[in-house]
Amino acid sequence: MTRAFNIATAVLALLLAARPLAAAPVDYIREVKPLLTARCYGCHGGLQQKGGLRLDTVKLLQKGGKSGAAVVPGSANDSLLITRVTAPQGTPRMPPPSQGEALSEKEIALLRAWIDQGAAGPADEKPEADAKDHWAFRPPVRPAVPRLKDSTRGGNPIDAFLAAEWEKRGLTPQPAADKRVLLRRVYLDLIGLPPTAEELEAFVADTAPQAYEQVVDKLLASPRYGERWGRHWMDVWRYSDWWGLGAEVRNSQKHIWHWRDWIIESLNADKGYDQMLREMLAADELYPNDLDKLRATGFLARQYFKFNRNTWLDETVEHTSKAFLGLTMNCARCHDHKYDPIAQADYYRFRAFFEPYQIRTDQVRGDVDFEKDGIPRAFDCNLDTPTYLFLRGDEKQPVKDKPLSPGIPPILAFTELEIRSISLPPEAYAPGLRPLVIENYQRLSEKQVKVAQDALAQARKKLAEADKSQTEAAQAAVSLAEKVLANSEAQQAALQARIAADRARYQQPSATDAGDLARKAATAERQATLAQAEENLARAEMELLQAASDKKADAEKKRNAARDAVAAARKALEAPGDTYTSLRGALKTLESNLESEASRNKPFPTTSTGRRSALAQWLTDKRHPLTARVAVNDIWARHFGQPLVATVFDFGRKGSAPTHPALLDYLAVELMEHGWSMKHLHRLIVTSNAYRLTSSNAGAAKANLAADAENHYYWRMNPLRMEAEVVRDSLLHLAGELDLTTGGPALDPIKDEASRRRSLYFVHSHNEYHKFLATFDQASVLECYRRAESIVPQQALALANSKFSLTMAAKINDRLHERLKKATDAEFVRAAFEMILATTPTAAEQDECEKALAQLTELGQKQQQKEAPRRARGVLIQALLNHNDFITIR
Ligand code: HEC
Ligand code: HEC
Repeated sequence: MTRAFNIATAVLALLLAARPLAAAPVDYIREVKPLLTARCYGCHGGLQQKGGLRLDTVKLLQKGGKSGAAVVPGSANDSLLITRVTAPQGTPRMPPPSQGEALSEKEIALLRAWIDQGAAGPADEKPEADAKDHWAFRPPVRPAVPRLKDSTRGGNPIDAFLAAEWEKRGLTPQPAADKRVLLRRVYLDLIGLPPTAEELEAFVADTAPQAYEQVVDKLLASPRYGERWGRHWMDVWRYSDWWGLGAEVRNSQKHIWHWRDWIIESLNADKGYDQMLREMLAADELYPNDLDKLRATGFLARQYFKFNRNTWLDETVEHTSKAFLGLTMNCARCHDHKYDPIAQADYYRFRAFFEPYQIRTDQVRGDVDFEKDGIPRAFDCNLDTPTYLFLRGDEKQPVKDKPLSPGIPPILAFTELEIRSISLPPEAYAPGLRPLVIENYQRLSEKQVKVAQDALAQARKKLAEADKSQTEAAQAAVSLAEKVLANSEAQQAALQARIAADRARYQQPSATDAGDLARKAATAERQATLAQAEENLARAEMELLQAASDKKADAEKKRNAARDAVAAARKALEAPGDTYTSLRGALKTLESNLESEASRNKPFPTTSTGRRSALAQWLTDKRHPLTARVAVNDIWARHFGQPLVATVFDFGRKGSAPTHPALLDYLAVELMEHGWSMKHLHRLIVTSNAYRLTSSNAGAAKANLAADAENHYYWRMNPLRMEAEVVRDSLLHLAGELDLTTGGPALDPIKDEASRRRSLYFVHSHNEYHKFLATFDQASVLECYRRAESIVPQQALALANSKFSLTMAAKINDRLHERLKKATDAEFVRAAFEMILATTPTAAEQDECEKALAQLTELGQKQQQKEAPRRARGVLIQALLNHNDFITIR
């Protein structure tokens, strides 16, 4: 019985055991490794070795961790790996339940089968690189410029680096672009506007060896450069005008355009990229009293979100990290980063740099009304707010017993962070002291006095001229005007007293008369309150006098209330004390929809934590492995239409490797060693031979197309679709309509739709934008590290039919006629091609266009159109604007 049973179970066991053996052979590389990579490497590979275990090669699997072999070839049942992923009672399951779902039954069966089949793998399997060896975590070192076999391919160092790859891969570069094409390319690239016909002609005729370089210098010196490249950086830095509901700001800030203007001006002045970053992150600590620089912190003001401080800070961390570091720090909010050495706590330590900051609007010259103007800027407000790690990223689960201080991920800790509290100058925390603020209030006050004086004179004149029946009313008007004047004078006196008291209090801490001045200010302020109450009473009395009989009762009530207010104000004046209202030079933005007015109006702190300036110093340290590389990649991508590192905001281990690591490093070091000058980098790039190659495939070597059809190795230039702003600006420019006014408040996309100013000056927020621009893939304000390049029918329609494009076509036509008074059709066709497409027509195109003009003219004449030939030419212009070569930068 037992024996038979035993045999039966043995057979059964054999049968069962045979099943996986009978299964199709498992392919380790194709099936097992990807599974382990996705689910286990985050903790058991090059990044971390939890439990002393690595799972990234078969050898390492067999070697195992602190408990010995994880895999016993031939026996899944004896393999710890299987034990742990199936997690019988008592063993912790892998991956740990808090960090990932269990493997599916199918996945487990696969692992079992592979082990039972002998756990085979390739002999030459390489373990994952150690995270600290990842290229982007090591500082760039200037590499030697490659020596080429074919020395004729030299040019500048960029060319040498590119040519080295051509030689390695058997690629042959295309010839240089036609001069016209090149000129249009570099104009659109550097200033976002095409060359005029005159500029093209001059360049084609200029045979001097440095003709091109001179053009480049001219363009880089043009204020249009800052507008063009400013828009690029506005993409990366998430520029957005405010949006919300009605007048309520929910995202970003009003007047954020000051930041836009700072970007443009900084670029035009060739301010170093490092300096720009420092100002954006910490101008309030580094230059607390420099309003021009404070505009830079619009970067932080833009992150404002009224309804959830965590969302606000999450986005700040995410986009500071993506834009400046090329790291997806945001992936470590809920769990340790799965690919990069960033622990969850590192995420919150990074957040701690920003924890104290809030937004306020500082008064600018001219306006005391913060709704009308002002500079939205960052400042450290809540100096002691702790930062907690949130379990699984859940704000309802803060780990309160372990507050975290600001810090950077250890992998990037090449230097000690020095965070020191910063004492702010009085004008920074009491901005009412700023001379411009004082002047604003004084001017306003003078104006009010003047208006009151004039009104009183008027009222007296009326009284003098009044006949009997009007005397009583005229007399009342005079008394009221007297009170208004008295009030405005009292306000003015109070203002002066408050200014004096503020100065003594904040700027001369040793002043012995500070107390005295404060008492005087308090008295003057109470007197002004009384004067205001008296004015109100006079007004109420006049209203009572004029009230219709059925309104008398109400008016009387009001008058009585006004009387009571006067009495109260008189009483307050008896004991004025020494508290007075300081001049308001800044207004804090509500921290959240729950913040009270009282808390909003608290005095600003006299110190700043110094956290953000420490962050900025670290970020712009020349030893930083990421900052310069990320910047170079962004700049390169916009010149060449494709980045050196495809994942522009992820230089981590999951991101793409650079196609040209040495070139990237060379340029990163070059940037840093030239004072982080972006113009230097632009010049180097656009004067390379590679930049000047044709973008056409025509005649390309077969080997090129076979080995690198996508042109990863730059054997030709990439043709680019114009960005939305460039399409619109180019049309305006060709039509001679472009209004080059720079800076200032954003234009309303509806009210100012007809404005001829450059496109970047239109309001651009999540909710509001210019329609024409939206058609051509303008930047998403939520995130735009690279522009999309869609091709949709709406674009063709916008160019063919929109009122805007038709008007511009007509104006371009007018201009051409102006220039070529008596041109034949043949001359006209040629000139139109040159002006709009910056090329000369091929013989066939020339022929077709001339024929079309003749036909159109004839048709027009038959219909007895006025100016039929001119109209026909207008049609040609429109057709050319719809030519693919117009919106393409060849
Ligand atoms: C989020 C991190 C994490 C992930 C993901 C993870 N593990 Fe682990 N693993 C650990 C930790 C921590 C230990 C050590 C503590 C323990 O033994 O429970 C460990 C231990 C182990 C051990 C025991 C090592 C020894 O020698 O004691 C094995 C086997 C193991 N893991 C397998 C896996 C496998 C297989 C996967 C993927 C399916 C995986 N782990 C995914 C964190 C992780
Ligand atoms: C809002 C919280 C949160 C954020 C932010 C987050 N994750 Fe996760 N992630 C989780 C949770 C929770 C798990 C646990 C597994 C599950 O529940 O599927 C997880 C698991 C994973 C896993 C393991 C897959 C698995 O099933 O074992 C990977 C890989 C991963 N996340 C990558 C990322 C990356 C990359 C990012 C950033 C782009 C990111 N996570 C951001 C919450 C988050």
